[in-house]
Amino acid sequence: MIEIRGLYKNFGSQQVLKGINLDINDGEIFTLLGGSGGGKSVFLKNVIGLLTPDGGSIKIDGEEIVGLKQKNLTKIQTKFGMLFQGGALFDSLTVGENVAFGLRRLTDFSDNKIRGLVIDYLEMVNLKGVEDKLPESLSIGMKRRVALARAIATSPKYIFYDEPTTGLDPITTDVISDLFLELQQKLKPTSVMVTHDLQTAYKVSDRIALLYDGVIVEVSTTEAFKKSTNPHVVKFIEGSSKGLLSEKNKD
Ligand SMILES: Nc1ncnc2c1ncn2[C@@H]1O[C@H](COP(=O)(O)OP(=O)(O)OP(=O)(O)O)[C@@H](O)[C@H]1O
Ligand SMILES: [Mg+2]
Repeated sequence: MIEIRGLYKNFGSQQVLKGINLDINDGEIFTLLGGSGGGKSVFLKNVIGLLTPDGGSIKIDGEEIVGLKQKNLTKIQTKFGMLFQGGALFDSLTVGENVAFGLRRLTDFSDNKIRGLVIDYLEMVNLKGVEDKLPESLSIGMKRRVALARAIATSPKYIFYDEPTTGLDPITTDVISDLFLELQQKLKPTSVMVTHDLQTAYKVSDRIALLYDGVIVEVSTTEAFKKSTNPHVVKFIEGSSKGLLSEKNKD
């Protein structure tokens, strides 16, 4: 499990995370909601070790990662898969090399084995025969599926999704969230999703948290979240249904 205590992150004089406390349980689908610029991506990047916290503790399966040397951090990072915001892919690498990226970095598998795995994982997201194409030749929905395949290709215990559906039309959003649930059943990872897309959050999450002004102001089951009387939650849900948050946040 992931245990986060008193997590702080500043950029210069700007305090972004101001003491986050959160537990994420094994096997759950956990969603962090919050407005644009609130620090959701910064939160994820701290948890996976791409940013260094200014204070606090992050334990992954009991092991403290704050203050770890890069070598030891890399070892723990083999447990993580990440879908970056907007499904960002490396434009100059083929689809196959994008999916292979984590396998090359984190394993010593042979080229043949990697090629086989890449094809398997692309098939899992319903893509065939695209491994030698460049990302620019794919539709946005296909690119997002490649990003999904890349996130799961190392069979990580924890998968982090940063806005997996942002910028997609409603139909493609549904396709991606269905695929997400299918992969969840097949691979049974612990999934941490960051989004401001309430519909997707409601559809896939076991628990939902809301980040506001650098702290977690609500953590509850999806059902309880929908009925919450916490003024921050009520305001967020209202804003979302009026499209205020999603309009502002389009990629
Ligand atoms: N590397 C960085 N250097 C300086 N400031 C940063 C950096 N990364 C993020 N920030 C700032 O931290 C704040 C939080 O950014 P973050 O990207 O986490 O927001 P977010 O909640 O993910 O927003 P969105 O929903 O739009 O993706 C913003 O004010 C942003 O400008
Ligand atoms: Mg973000």
